[in-house]
Amino acid sequence: MKLEGVFKGFDEIKVLHDINLSFNEKEITCILGPSGCGKSTLLNIMAGILKPDDGRVTNPNQKVGYVFQEDRLLPWKTVYENIRLVNKKATEKNIMELIDIVGLKGFEKKFPDQLSGGMRQRCSIARAFNFESQLLLMDEPFKSLEYDLRLTMAGSLVDIWSMWNNSVIFVTHEIDEAILLGNKIVILSKNPCRVEAEIEISIPQCHRRLEDRELISIRTKLLKLLTKQKEACTYKSA
Ligand SMILES: Nc1ncnc2c1ncn2[C@@H]1O[C@H](COP(=O)(O)OP(=O)(O)OP(=O)(O)O)[C@@H](O)[C@H]1O
Ligand SMILES: [Mg+2]
Repeated sequence: MKLEGVFKGFDEIKVLHDINLSFNEKEITCILGPSGCGKSTLLNIMAGILKPDDGRVTNPNQKVGYVFQEDRLLPWKTVYENIRLVNKKATEKNIMELIDIVGLKGFEKKFPDQLSGGMRQRCSIARAFNFESQLLLMDEPFKSLEYDLRLTMAGSLVDIWSMWNNSVIFVTHEIDEAILLGNKIVILSKNPCRVEAEIEISIPQCHRRLEDRELISIRTKLLKLLTKQKEACTYKSA
């Protein structure tokens, strides 16, 4: 997946400005950036839901999965049915394993409106895992979950990704999530959104601990970059 000179605006608002990014196959790339900078817009362009105003998007992946910022479950289907419908070849055992991984065992027969926001989001994550895409786009998928559960879900994502060997692009506001998950972390700026920095982490995900010296120094670097973003002013007109 490659973006070359991508620009996007809405009415008078310039959102994405000359975005150039390459995403390595079979890696997890995390995208960090201030609220409203254009992360979801960028994912929508990658998914082909939105067209850029200018620039080129090359996506060789045939099967693209997307966990949206909101859960988008079908309200008339149960947890089990919502997960099953994206891959009818999955066995009951496969689906029950996914339900277990996201901590929804015992809730498989419930409907979305019988679940909490975080549970619905976990169901939509299990559905994305069941889709077995070559490229999985995830837009703040763990945002409705508390800190411990986020880290557990990050561990489950790493387990599933290592089994499948697919590519994942993961948008988050949480630095720790990005540090635990990303082979590469892309930091976006505001006013309008550009690529501020790209940081590679060579430690395999399964060996990462947040207290590791190298990860602490990456954390400090990310904090500095993001704090700089928070100080940036509001949008300029196009
Ligand atoms: N369909 C649209 N029509 C008009 N403006 C839009 C549309 N979609 C997004 N925007 C604007 O583009 C900017 C970026 O929005 P986007 O949702 O991509 O940000 P984000 O980085 O994902 O934010 P958050 O972290 O809060 O999810 C915002 O100013 C938003 O109002
Ligand atoms: Mg967003």
